[in-house]
Amino acid sequence: MQIPSGMFISEELRRRFAGATRVLVLTGAGVSAESGVPTFRGGGDTAVWKGLPFDVISSAHMVQQDLPAVWEWFDYRRDLLKSLEPNAAHKTLADWQHRFEDFTLVTQNVDGLHQRGGSRDVIELHGSIWRARCISCHSRYEFSAEELRPQECVGCGDAVLPDVVLFGELLPTGAFERAVEKAAACELCLVVGTSALVYPAAGLPELAKASGAFVCEVNPERTPLSDFCDEILMGKAGEVLPLFAESREP
Ligand code: APR
Repeated sequence: MQIPSGMFISEELRRRFAGATRVLVLTGAGVSAESGVPTFRGGGDTAVWKGLPFDVISSAHMVQQDLPAVWEWFDYRRDLLKSLEPNAAHKTLADWQHRFEDFTLVTQNVDGLHQRGGSRDVIELHGSIWRARCISCHSRYEFSAEELRPQECVGCGDAVLPDVVLFGELLPTGAFERAVEKAAACELCLVVGTSALVYPAAGLPELAKASGAFVCEVNPERTPLSDFCDEILMGKAGEVLPLFAESREP
């Protein structure tokens, strides 16, 4: 494994990693970048779909205006995902669920790559691209890459939309509350591959820090969270996270 040049995990972070029992990891689009999933904002660009910025096409307002166009955008992203595989970062985080007594993986991603990488019980703050929900009775329908997505609600016959949190919508009840509980109780919090611009997700590391946790950021770029972290590892998640495997009890 190629150690990214200049990548250095401090003795303190190795010691804390080796000795931790309660660990929370928050991930964003960057953790899937090495699998080929485009990020939304990294590198200074903003994702655009047919001339519409992603935060317009992925909005509750757009659902009112043109639901078929919203589906087209999510169908395109799901098709992209069908040929992509989880990367070393997803697989490493799946291993960590067996390593720590109390491990919590919170993601902003809707791509399902954590689960395909072996992670269980992932807290999906922004929903999943592999589910649809009814616009009126809120029934949810899970479907796989091989299956066609539902065209309408089997229960009440009304329209369905992607079961993701659209701009202008609240987070699914329960998911965020669970994440807050775990963030307030963790000893070590890693923030991996997020621009930390979208709240309330970006508030979780702040809460963890305020509750006494050691906070480490993994990102090739600085974010608004960087100055706030106890340690930043400026590199790609798929290259940096496997380096923790060498962390052993002193
Ligand atoms: N490893 C780690 N981080 C990476 C990598 C990588 N290989 N490649 C890019 N990054 C970083 C970028 O530097 C950037 O800071 O990942 C971050 C991606 O940021 P965004 O595209 O803003 O994604 P995210 O933070 O997940 O966005 C939050 O906003 O668009 C909404 O609902 C959407 O969940 C998303 C939310």
